[in-house]
Amino acid sequence: MSRRKQIYEGKAKILYEGPEPGTLVQYFKDDATAFNAQKKAILDGKGVLNNRISEYVMLRLEEIGIPTHFIKRLNMREQLIKKVEIIPLEVICRNVAAGTMAKRLGLEEGTKLPRSVVEFCLKRDDLGDPLVAEEHIHTFGWASHAEVDEMIAMTLRINDYLRGMFGGIGINLIDFKIEFGRLDITMENGTVAHQVILADEISPDSCRLWDRETDRKMDKDRFRRDLGGVTEAYTEVATRLGILKETQNKGAPNLSVVSNDD
Ligand code: CDP
Repeated sequence: MSRRKQIYEGKAKILYEGPEPGTLVQYFKDDATAFNAQKKAILDGKGVLNNRISEYVMLRLEEIGIPTHFIKRLNMREQLIKKVEIIPLEVICRNVAAGTMAKRLGLEEGTKLPRSVVEFCLKRDDLGDPLVAEEHIHTFGWASHAEVDEMIAMTLRINDYLRGMFGGIGINLIDFKIEFGRLDITMENGTVAHQVILADEISPDSCRLWDRETDRKMDKDRFRRDLGGVTEAYTEVATRLGILKETQNKGAPNLSVVSNDD
């Protein structure tokens, strides 16, 4: 890891140059941040869990035809990904009012929405990732009309699938945030086209996941709201997904895995 050239360091991940052109290595750190990095902590094992959970989710989504940047997991903390140009938008999909939507619209957290809602926020930490309208996206050229349509369609498809996937293990998918990138595709005539693909990660850091029976939070809100047991909750998500062995979900997370790699 340390011998590779670092391309970018974010709050929870580092990107390194990949072994081949057009690839990167995505490294999952244990760092947790919230409220625009005003709150920070190191949560032992979080990076390992998010690497595994995101791998699992990306592979399932590929199976249903969603193009993603994921190529393969390299080890406990790293995955090989396709290099893309990140579209500077966070795409949020909500099924139940929570977080900023509950606050902004005066809804009680936990209110089921009449239909799933897709929102766009501009990726600008210095501005606190503000909510933007499609008009803004087009006016400022952050994405084309076709790209916005593709992102919305893919997000709703991902939402449908993930609701079912998490529902199957007794978890309600309240909301999630995803990011998309543009992948260069060289056509037969030599021209280069862009394909919009799913990038970044999907993990309990970027989703709200509530236990179906008890509404217990199993996501980053445990960190944001000082509820404790953050890695234990992430471990339980991984265990229910079948990524970790059943017996490991007792007390401190044991992060060895079902498959024998690494
Ligand atoms: O998380 P917060 O209450 O600040 O914002 P939200 O708009 O209610 O977040 C909606 C969903 O997107 C939650 O599942 C967040 O965890 C996720 N999110 C994220 O992963 N990264 C952000 N920068 C903002 C939201």
